[in-house]
Amino acid sequence: MHNRKRIAVFASGFGSNLQALIDYSKSNDLNGDIALVLSDKEHARALDRARESGIKAVFVNPLEYDDRKKYDTKIIELLESEKIDLIVLAGYMLVLSSEFVSKFRNKILNIHPALLPSFKGTHGIKDAFDYGVKVTGVTVHFVEEDLDSGPIIIQKPVEVEQDESVEELESRIHRVEHQIYPLAVRYFCEDRLRIDGRKVRILSKENMNGE
Ligand code: GRF
Repeated sequence: MHNRKRIAVFASGFGSNLQALIDYSKSNDLNGDIALVLSDKEHARALDRARESGIKAVFVNPLEYDDRKKYDTKIIELLESEKIDLIVLAGYMLVLSSEFVSKFRNKILNIHPALLPSFKGTHGIKDAFDYGVKVTGVTVHFVEEDLDSGPIIIQKPVEVEQDESVEELESRIHRVEHQIYPLAVRYFCEDRLRIDGRKVRILSKENMNGE
């Protein structure tokens, strides 16, 4: 097996996806370790979750930097000093600068609560619900400069039930997020993802041995 990856999770809020990743890593081998959790919000629940699990938790205040580029430079220093191999965005509400994305090309994952390329943006669940779709879902993808547009690693559909509320749909979507995000992170850490243009192949473990 390849070297264990060092993972940084970026989160601005509740951190349920971070928690799912922490929990998964306790009972499965991710082939990686969460070395750092970073937030742009001082009181993000995600930072508490990290601390509760003994993971380094850092708040970097965007208001202390004149612009996004300077903020990202600070974050890059932090990532380099921690020798981070993979960045997992889990409800991180700041848009990454293009310099940042190109520095960590194909090393940043994001989760989106809809079936991309439908319903991009911050309200994927509600937008799909209001549109009246019968099927929505969850997408895990690599991050590129354009928002919610990088190559797709895993998608899982969720059927919208006729009489459910948006809150009920939301909680079912979150449950699916918590199932598939740890898997995508694991595939990355096992070096099993191959990007070919827009397509991402997930190698089976047998293929890995044959490489
Ligand atoms: C999730 O719905 C994720 O898809 C979106 O932001 C939300 C984060 O939730 N990108 P949490 O902070 O992980 O609970």
